[in-house]
Amino acid sequence: MTRVVSPLRLGVNIDHVATVRNARGGALPDPVRAAQLACAAGADGITAHLREDRRHIRDTDMRRLREHLTVPLNFEMAATDEMVAIALEHLPHAACLVPERREERTTEGGLDVIGGGIELAHKVEKLAHAGIRVSLFVAPDEDQIARAADIGAAVVELHTGAWCDLLAEGRAAEAEEEFARLRRAAVQGAAFGLEIHAGHGLDYASAETIAALEPVRELNIGHFLIGEAIFVGLEAAVRHMRVAMARGRARLGASQAA
Ligand code: PXP
Repeated sequence: MTRVVSPLRLGVNIDHVATVRNARGGALPDPVRAAQLACAAGADGITAHLREDRRHIRDTDMRRLREHLTVPLNFEMAATDEMVAIALEHLPHAACLVPERREERTTEGGLDVIGGGIELAHKVEKLAHAGIRVSLFVAPDEDQIARAADIGAAVVELHTGAWCDLLAEGRAAEAEEEFARLRRAAVQGAAFGLEIHAGHGLDYASAETIAALEPVRELNIGHFLIGEAIFVGLEAAVRHMRVAMARGRARLGASQAA
């Protein structure tokens, strides 16, 4: 008998369409058009990170995404007063709070939920009070996840970047250990009543692997898909990603049935 497995959503991060646009100035390529194409190809939601330095997504992109999208918008943001005010203005479906340092190339570590103290808790409360589903982007660390649940986050997004880096460097044993941490964190977070998402650095193969973790409900993927889009087009890349995710999820159904 096969057991029913919860669906796994795909959020497509369109930041790097804006990176290419900004390299030349002007309006093209348009991240909103990319978002619409990704949705037509099977994305369940769109993620965009308005960074403090506006290096890719800009304020006008957030406004246009909000106007044109019919799927949930996940607003990635630093836990600052400025970003909370912008989130409250646009009221996206979800806000994913991430650490942000100006000099980093991408979001390098998980949010320090414990170190964020009462100030972070207040920001989570403000966003949640406005009806925004709050997600905290965390390393697979038990204490951070426990604190995320304590301060009222609805979701934790597990940072898969370290695992993906180890895979890319061919450090198989360490990758295996990091994956075991992700698995434990997913189970633990779900036990706290948190919805579990995962993202950063995922490609077809790693997305397929992580899709087989039952508590994981959503993957957020950007850089790889936008890179693939150069070669095969965005719709094909998103479709291929959905197939990889479905393959991983099917493995889970089969192993539960055995
Ligand atoms: N999730 C979060 C919280 C992120 O910060 C990022 C990167 O912006 C992603 C997912 C997507 O990562 P990538 O672009 O490596 O797929």
